[in-house]
Amino acid sequence: MEFYSWGLTGALFMTAPSKRENFQRETGMRKLGVGVLGVGEMGRRHAENLRCRVPEARLVAVADVSVARAKEVADELEIEHSFGTFEDMLALKDLDCVVIATPDKFHAQAIRTAAASRKHILSEKPLATNLADAHAALDAVAKAGVHLQVGFMRRYDPAYSAAMKRIEAGEIGEPVIFKSIGRDKDAPPISAYQSKLNGMLFYNNTIHDFDLARWLIRDDISEAHAYATVAIRPEVAQYGDVVASVVNLKYRRGAIGNIESFVQSTYGYDVRTEIIGSAGSILVGSFRQTSATFLTKNGGTQMLADHYLTRFADAYVSEVRDFVRNMLNDRPPRITGEDGLRALEIAVAAENSYLEGKPYGVSQVAR
Ligand SMILES: NC(=O)c1ccc[n+]([C@@H]2O[C@H](COP(=O)([O-])OP(=O)(O)OC[C@H]3O[C@@H](n4cnc5c(N)ncnc54)[C@H](O)[C@@H]3O)[C@@H](O)[C@H]2O)c1
Repeated sequence: MEFYSWGLTGALFMTAPSKRENFQRETGMRKLGVGVLGVGEMGRRHAENLRCRVPEARLVAVADVSVARAKEVADELEIEHSFGTFEDMLALKDLDCVVIATPDKFHAQAIRTAAASRKHILSEKPLATNLADAHAALDAVAKAGVHLQVGFMRRYDPAYSAAMKRIEAGEIGEPVIFKSIGRDKDAPPISAYQSKLNGMLFYNNTIHDFDLARWLIRDDISEAHAYATVAIRPEVAQYGDVVASVVNLKYRRGAIGNIESFVQSTYGYDVRTEIIGSAGSILVGSFRQTSATFLTKNGGTQMLADHYLTRFADAYVSEVRDFVRNMLNDRPPRITGEDGLRALEIAVAAENSYLEGKPYGVSQVAR
């Protein structure tokens, strides 16, 4: 049997069956039909991973409020369908689930729309930008009886997974201190703040660390005490955002934590976490993109990680692959809507703490 496909130039090619197609024919496996909503930087990567790196998935369509962008991505990935609205994509018959990668502000409504259409959902973080929207989204998911996974992909990173396995094996004893750093290389353009499409630093960035804080210590946070600053860019204050923050955390069982976030390290994308226990500690992360060191007469240099799409490339693949496999087997996702809600509650407590200048109990914001 011949296989035909449209090349990147628009030419029709006759090709040999790909490894992926062979795999599916040999196993007789049903493929999960997936659509991606919002194909900017992150959604484009999810779509590409689903198309090329997850044999059990069939990327059926992409949709974006920018019809031109949706069409461009569909053409690049050589898929038939692209849409300008979510509703049009959801009307496709062979769609089993959706990946939501719109800006933060639209996640909760998109989850409700997808749930009403009985589609399983992988939504980018944060679950929502406020708790009312988060609860409405989770209620819709529960009512529809669909699965929801929230995109905390760091849990799939090989280094973080290895750390978790050793914590679970008791190698560092009882975790006592959690420390995490998340620094982006380049600050967003001021237009990103002006648009208010994404949550402020705690919701858009620190949320990853809030999730790690719960997951790695295997306990919930009871209190957050945040300091934040607009230093170096005072104009972001008018959009309700900050450029850097430190958040101290108290856990229910007695551990403590500290998380630093910064939007403009300039030297690289720097994500590191330390878990210190009663019998040892684990340090996850390094500055390096590659393990090579380059030595010249002026000294030595290393290539530093510069972007999340490179630092967490493997994690993004594992994330969608695990989601697809669980959905095909009707198993609950590994990271749930509840996890999304718990991380969001910490973000809300941190923001309230920052605004009020005092520690804030997570139970004060939780329903
Ligand atoms: N997990 C991670 O590591 C990670 C990394 C980056 C971004 N994200 C998250 O992914 C999401 C997207 O971020 P991004 O950097 O790709 O943004 P982006 O601006 O590059 O892309 C967003 C896309 O969504 C489209 N869009 C906007 N509103 C829409 C709507 N209502 N319906 C459909 N499409 C819409 C835009 O046209 C654009 O193509 C954000 O929620 C962000 O927090 C997660």
